[in-house]
Amino acid sequence: MRWIYLLFAIALFFCTAMRPQGPSKKAKAVFHNQLTELIETLGTLEQSLTTEASKEVIQKQYAQSRIAFKSIEFLIASLDPLLYEKTLNESPLPKVEPNVANKEKHEPKGWQVLDESLYTENLDRAACMQLLEQLIDNLKEFQAFSQQAYLHDAFMIDAIKAQLMRNFTLGITGFDTPGSGLALADLKASHQGILKFLELYQDVFPKEALNKLKTVLSIHLKTDFDGFDRYAYLVEHMIPALEELENIRTSLALETIEESSPQPLAFKSTFENPFQPDFLNASYFSEVPKKEYNQARSALGKKLFNDPYLSKNLKTSCQSCHAKEFAFSDAKAKSLANDGRSHLSRNAPSLNYSIFSSEYFHDLRAANLHMQFEHVVRNEQEFDSDYMELVDKIKADANYKKEFEICYEEYPAAVSKTTIHHALSCYLMSLPTFDSEFDQYVQQKKKAIPEEIRLGFNLFMGKAQCGTCHFPPTFAGLVPPHFEESESEVLGVLVNEDFKHPQLDQDEGRQASGVVKYDFDFYKYAFKTPSIRNVELTTPYMHNGSLSTLEKVVEFYDLGGGLGMGVDLPHQTLPADALNLSEEEKQALIAFMKSLTDQAYLVKH
Ligand code: HEC
Ligand code: HEC
Repeated sequence: MRWIYLLFAIALFFCTAMRPQGPSKKAKAVFHNQLTELIETLGTLEQSLTTEASKEVIQKQYAQSRIAFKSIEFLIASLDPLLYEKTLNESPLPKVEPNVANKEKHEPKGWQVLDESLYTENLDRAACMQLLEQLIDNLKEFQAFSQQAYLHDAFMIDAIKAQLMRNFTLGITGFDTPGSGLALADLKASHQGILKFLELYQDVFPKEALNKLKTVLSIHLKTDFDGFDRYAYLVEHMIPALEELENIRTSLALETIEESSPQPLAFKSTFENPFQPDFLNASYFSEVPKKEYNQARSALGKKLFNDPYLSKNLKTSCQSCHAKEFAFSDAKAKSLANDGRSHLSRNAPSLNYSIFSSEYFHDLRAANLHMQFEHVVRNEQEFDSDYMELVDKIKADANYKKEFEICYEEYPAAVSKTTIHHALSCYLMSLPTFDSEFDQYVQQKKKAIPEEIRLGFNLFMGKAQCGTCHFPPTFAGLVPPHFEESESEVLGVLVNEDFKHPQLDQDEGRQASGVVKYDFDFYKYAFKTPSIRNVELTTPYMHNGSLSTLEKVVEFYDLGGGLGMGVDLPHQTLPADALNLSEEEKQALIAFMKSLTDQAYLVKH
């Protein structure tokens, strides 16, 4: 019988040896060559800086090197996300080191900083050369490392998807090119780069899907930055491309990121539309695993949320300051405290989409929802209570006790700080619906988008620069394409609406949040970028409620924020230049923001 085994072994050997390798090897070789080319273009640029070449020559060479960069950005960024985000392409603002407890300032480096530096009035050649040297060194190191990489089919799908998100949110908004404004050239190069690699997958990816994908990825740019139709790009190119990429994944039964990695993701990797209701993963943010979320727990959370019984004076509930009819805010500049007379120091934010945040409160002082809830329970102006008192109260109420026992049967203690927080978290997880009028256009549930809303969206994501801070799909500071970090910004918010005599609000925001690692000057007056979903219902605006209408908000931005109005605020992160929006454009921006009101409210009002 031995010969049978031998035959079997030989057959197995041939099968394995002859099994097609897939295009991975070839793709890697192409990638390697393009990376070499990219490093060379950067070398040429460095040379020109050394030899005092003219600004025009330098900028032309820079544009060339950006094309080389953008054509393979999708591979670099996905092969080494940390290197890409922390060294190669950081936003040009100082930050604190994430994920460290102590105070550590991090100076940004990479392309975005270079982009800004090369296009300033007085070109600092030495500084640019240093940035270039860093870039070249990092890329060379990366090139050596990437020899080990395996560009398998599922990886390519996910890398292209991430790049489409990057292009849509950070590319065509101008976020990525703060100096050069080369956003559209970048977009073209990125698509062409992807198309080039797709050629290698001709025999692997199903023909029909691949052809469709190639068609929607072929874009012809006929306009300039301001005129580019971002809405058309989203619905006619990006979403169809995402759909075909998922078709390919399904037909080849390729694994998903969730299947191949134990790390939870902030978004669903198999998304076909960034506006689909389950795109963001609420579990990731609330730290309540999917299997622990259910309707009964969320209903219990809702009951707690609305119940003044939890507060010491039996008068204050979460909904006192977060009322549903105002999209879970309170229509006051600053919330009323539990004494019914004094005010809290800030404006109550809307909660519909607040769960999608890495940190909570206007100054980002709460690292998670537990800290947020605890603050309400203990704060003298809010519940003015503690957990012993709260647990005793709930246990003393037969209905509550029973409900907790049913909902949290398997927990060591059915009524506890943990379960109270759990139920409240489940309730907050149930609030986002992504069913506003705008969502319905993008989800293609409703036909043609009205021209004014389309213009408003295009301005928001383009000329008016709103989308460089309020990122889709939440239109908050939750940074794509990973959606793991909430940003704060310095706008120079004033004490009131008197833009002629601007007086800076003295709330120091993130710097004074009590979080030691945020105690830096660049966080002085910095506030979390909130979602503008349902903003039609959450007047007045900003952390201090200083702006009474959306008209005033748009005017504030049109004037370039506090700095633009003449306030002395050198580290304002909002560009101080006037936006020069026409009256029609201002109205369109407002119409777009109003199209983000959730259906639940439209039915009633
Ligand atoms: C007395 C008014 C008041 C009460 C009561 C209250 N809040 Fe708030 N809430 C606020 C204000 C004001 C802020 C912003 C405070 C800040 O940033 O310093 C806030 C912030 C929040 C945030 C942060 C949102 C974000 O986007 O970062 C959440 C979540 C929240 N509240 C949930 C709750 C819950 C749940 C309860 C009940 C347990 C509650 N609040 C009770 C006024 C209130
Ligand atoms: C530099 C980043 C940045 C840019 C650009 C930006 N925003 Fe904001 N936006 C913020 C931050 C941060 C806040 C919160 C400020 C505060 O609370 O004091 C905010 C607040 C708002 C609010 C109030 C939300 C609320 O509930 O109070 C609206 C509305 C808004 N922005 C719309 C826009 C529009 C429209 C544009 C473009 C014209 C824009 N933003 C551009 C960062 C930005």
